[in-house]
Amino acid sequence: MGFSLDNVVPWGRSYDEYVGMFSLTTDDLAGRILGCGDGPASFNCTLSRRGGSVLSIDPLYSFSTGEIRHRIEVTFHEVMKQVRENQDEFLWTSIGSPEVLATTRMSAMNDFLADYDKGCDEKRYVHGELPSLPFDDNQFDLALSSHFLFLYSEQLNLEFHLASIRELCRVAADVRLFPLLELGAKRSRHLDILTSRLRKEGYGLEINSVDYEFQRGGNKMMKITSSPLKR
Ligand SMILES: C[S@@+](CC[C@H](N)C(=O)[O-])C[C@H]1O[C@@H](n2cnc3c(N)ncnc32)[C@H](O)[C@@H]1O
Repeated sequence: MGFSLDNVVPWGRSYDEYVGMFSLTTDDLAGRILGCGDGPASFNCTLSRRGGSVLSIDPLYSFSTGEIRHRIEVTFHEVMKQVRENQDEFLWTSIGSPEVLATTRMSAMNDFLADYDKGCDEKRYVHGELPSLPFDDNQFDLALSSHFLFLYSEQLNLEFHLASIRELCRVAADVRLFPLLELGAKRSRHLDILTSRLRKEGYGLEINSVDYEFQRGGNKMMKITSSPLKR
């Protein structure tokens, strides 16, 4: 089945949230960064404006600015309704309320929309999707994936997760994934077996606590380094 905009709920986080989720240091931010599944997040827009090197890849980028804006408008109220109905799943400390969340997310997505055409021309927003990426081996220093892998563990099976992580490790020396929860704020059903399989294959793998937590219990980031067997 092809990727259809009707099935997408575009929802984008901010640069500061990416820095928190992935514990990004000044050195990290100075490298060549791939954002995989960045959707309408504003990380690329903000980092590029600050002189960083970042490329985002997402199936969403086959659509025009107008189509993505329309889809955001159509889905925004439904997402906010679900957040209000499930407020207990979230920690309202740094983002103080659903109203603040709505403003924060819309501000990030508006920054993305304002940058999108320019970013496509500059090849900073590239259409593509896991588990196969159109990049050279080690083209990036760091690959980040926020709220895609693990989050959709019910819909995307273990083999998809393994193939995607191996592919991210092929193109980047340092791969970071956040959060390790699936929808419903539950620990991903794939986590234990996936961790053990990747370690057996020789990947370096750490699970680190980070300062960012919005989904309750979602303050863990997986960091994977390329297989020593392949070096
Ligand atoms: C919940 S959004 C997260 C957006 C952004 N990373 C953030 O945290 O704000 C998930 C994104 O994954 C993208 N996606 C869906 N299938 C994908 C695939 N096979 N490979 C890469 N990204 C995919 C969607 O288009 C969507 O933009």
